Amino acid sequence: MSIHSTVKRVTTHVLAEMKLKGEKIAMLTSYDYSMASIVDKAGIDVILVGDSASNVMAGFETTLPITLDNMIYHAASVVRAAKRALVVVDMPFGTYQGNSKEALSSAIRIMKETGAHAVKIEGGAEILESVERILSAGIPVMGHLGLTPQSIHKFGTYVVRARDEEEAKRLKEDAKLLEEKGVFAIVLEKIPAVLAGEVAESLSIPAIGIGAGSKVDGQVLVIHDMLGINQEFSPRFLRRYHNLYQEITGAVQGYIKDVRSLDFPNEKEQY
Ligand code: KIV
Repeated sequence: MSIHSTVKRVTTHVLAEMKLKGEKIAMLTSYDYSMASIVDKAGIDVILVGDSASNVMAGFETTLPITLDNMIYHAASVVRAAKRALVVVDMPFGTYQGNSKEALSSAIRIMKETGAHAVKIEGGAEILESVERILSAGIPVMGHLGLTPQSIHKFGTYVVRARDEEEAKRLKEDAKLLEEKGVFAIVLEKIPAVLAGEVAESLSIPAIGIGAGSKVDGQVLVIHDMLGINQEFSPRFLRRYHNLYQEITGAVQGYIKDVRSLDFPNEKEQY
């Protein structure tokens, strides 16, 4: 028996029960084994292997360049660490839009090659065929509406979405369509809090917000943002729980000083 077999895994059914009981869902991103191990042991419910890896891990300006192979590498590392959390993997740009057969084979690669528990895809009515086909293979799907960063060149900016009535109405319809198809949860990114609350209330599945206020069923943040590793990214919705940029800078500078002054290594730190 493995030492981990006593840990009860969070499943999509557990998340549905949490919504029913009014218990909030805590979700964070991770992209590598060491960070995912800390996040999992700390008790997070869901780890998202986000395509934000394109920004925070690879240094690209947008999420568009990251590949399916890249996502599979990150996700497999996270899955090896996560003993309790549900692991959801973002399907990268270009692997599901417009071709549901390709969407299914991309999702199957993610599930087979990483051992993850679900995939996430951005969009509403326009990607329903892909959602349906992926679900038909028994792969749980998480939706993502509002600010969908893979469409950044269509929007032209990262400002709050669905402020006007027409877009808000479309978002509500998309959320219902996704629920009817069978997605197990929906991420709502950067939309007005009142709208997010209305959407969450109208759904029987969890709505997980990022920049969507408190009237949703859970929250998600990018781990590099909430730990303060990134200095440049400061949207209003972000709460920083640490200033790791400063901490790491201090540690690195201390090391440089010790090496240069011959303080490191000392007699106890050698053989
Ligand atoms: O890629 C990502 O990290 C995400 C979250 C911001 C929800 O999609």
